Amino acid sequence: MNPRPFPQFVPLLVALLATACTAPAAETPEITVAQATLESGGGMVVSAYPHASRAGAEVLRAGGNAVDAAIATGFALAVTHPVAGNIGGGGFMVIRFPDGSSTVMDFREKAPLRAHPEMFLDEDGEYSFQIHHRSHLAVGVPGTVAGFAQAHEKYGSAAWAGLVEPAVALARDGFEVSERLAGSLAGRLEAFRGYPATFAQFFRDGEPYAPGDTLVQADLASTLARIRDQGRDGFYAGETARLLAEEMERGGGWITEEDLARYQAVEREPVRGTYRGYDIISMAPPSSGGTALVEMLNVLEGFDVAAMGANSPAHAHHLIEAMRRAFRDRATHLADPDFSDVPVARLTSKEYAAEIRATIQADAASVSDPDDVAGDPGWESSETTHYSVVDGDGMAVSVTYTLEGGYGSYITVPGAGFLLNNEMGDFNARPGLTTDRGLIGTEPNLARPEQRMLSSMTPTILARGGELVAVVGSPGGRTIINTVLQIVVNVVDFGMSPADAVATKRLHHQWLPDAARLEDGYMSEEDAAVLTAMGHPISWSGRQGIAHCIFTGEGGVLVGVPDPRDSDGTAAGY
Ligand code: GLY
Repeated sequence: MNPRPFPQFVPLLVALLATACTAPAAETPEITVAQATLESGGGMVVSAYPHASRAGAEVLRAGGNAVDAAIATGFALAVTHPVAGNIGGGGFMVIRFPDGSSTVMDFREKAPLRAHPEMFLDEDGEYSFQIHHRSHLAVGVPGTVAGFAQAHEKYGSAAWAGLVEPAVALARDGFEVSERLAGSLAGRLEAFRGYPATFAQFFRDGEPYAPGDTLVQADLASTLARIRDQGRDGFYAGETARLLAEEMERGGGWITEEDLARYQAVEREPVRGTYRGYDIISMAPPSSGGTALVEMLNVLEGFDVAAMGANSPAHAHHLIEAMRRAFRDRATHLADPDFSDVPVARLTSKEYAAEIRATIQADAASVSDPDDVAGDPGWESSETTHYSVVDGDGMAVSVTYTLEGGYGSYITVPGAGFLLNNEMGDFNARPGLTTDRGLIGTEPNLARPEQRMLSSMTPTILARGGELVAVVGSPGGRTIINTVLQIVVNVVDFGMSPADAVATKRLHHQWLPDAARLEDGYMSEEDAAVLTAMGHPISWSGRQGIAHCIFTGEGGVLVGVPDPRDSDGTAAGY
């Protein structure tokens, strides 16, 4: 046990300590690290763990650009935020360049070559949740390292090794475990017993780590060192690939060294839209996020949302109705664009929004009809992580990446020290399967060789008049899209401050099940009664999303806002 106090998790002390400990040369700007809203004139990183935000900010201070810092932050989170940070998963990166142009990197996992639509059925031909979400067959071919390598090759400016080295050091030398991480790992004590390599990695002599203890991950350090020295080949070839393929073979998984060698990240066109004069830049399919976000904003644009008042019954009603329609379209049309024609242009057009807006009544709920589509939205975990980066030149990067479930499949590759995703669970369960829980069996998102599974991740950038306004995103499965939507509405319609735009309570509706889930405290009981009287079944939830965002404030200052829903969220800037 390490009895040291844990000052970096006490928000107000963090900045002072960081300042005192950094001891930079006189002309070197100091990095401030804060678990609270932070203003900065230079560069900024906001992520789910202090060491990761600091790693990114140090890259910025050393002259790296926002893509470089995003890569360093992402690798550091793979060490310090194992519930979702990863090299064994995948995700998306949205980049806005200082000249206002933009692009997105898709490093979503892929199905292995042996995949087929009925792979999640058991020997009796019945759908198996266990196979779909909790087995070696639930693991998709990881994309994170390829995505970071491709982003670096195309848009990075600093040396690759220097972006991976902070993560190598954190894994090799260890880092201080936060209270939240200690609690999260302790909560997996029994679950991880069935996964010996995972148990050994996250428990010391079979005992949970306490807050303030140092967590060392030697095997992960070796893998990261191979990635540092060999780039993508350090993961997709050689020893790492061999260790991963061997674990697949042991556990009945289908990912082979060939699957790994073939994996490629893809650069795509962002989904772009406008909302009351603001530009929306967001993730394209295989994420449904950007498409559904723009569709909902287009619908809301036809209503006087500002006049409704934030979190009023009228506001909630119109949000729910926009969500209901966009999530129906998501279930019907969205999938990997390399395998299906996804009608993004139509779904994000103002004309289509006008058509569906006309079906919304002013004060009465519609009803979600499962027969509207031939499929099922399925189960999605809320564990993912989002981080935001802006550099001193105004390059902005919005990254959301994931293992799917918390700690993914729970499978750590023995000898390689990293967790594998269970992202195959984001494919539809089986053709035609529909349940009142919201499962969907639509054709486009069925598992096929090398297809990417549908995602809800919504890394997004907001701009106006050529100027950056905000970098936004969140974890939360399908709630991600609605979390981002409400932050945008809070900024644009209600003129909220950055801190309020993030902190304000949120709600979620996803077409099926036909009920809205409101964060505790979203509205008063009286207002909730008004919403219910409109015909909206509602329930209450503890938390929706963790949106670690950056905004441009007065005079162009960067305002980093770690979501107060996460005690480890940290802004680091200089
Ligand atoms: N696995 C969460 C998502 O991709 O949306």
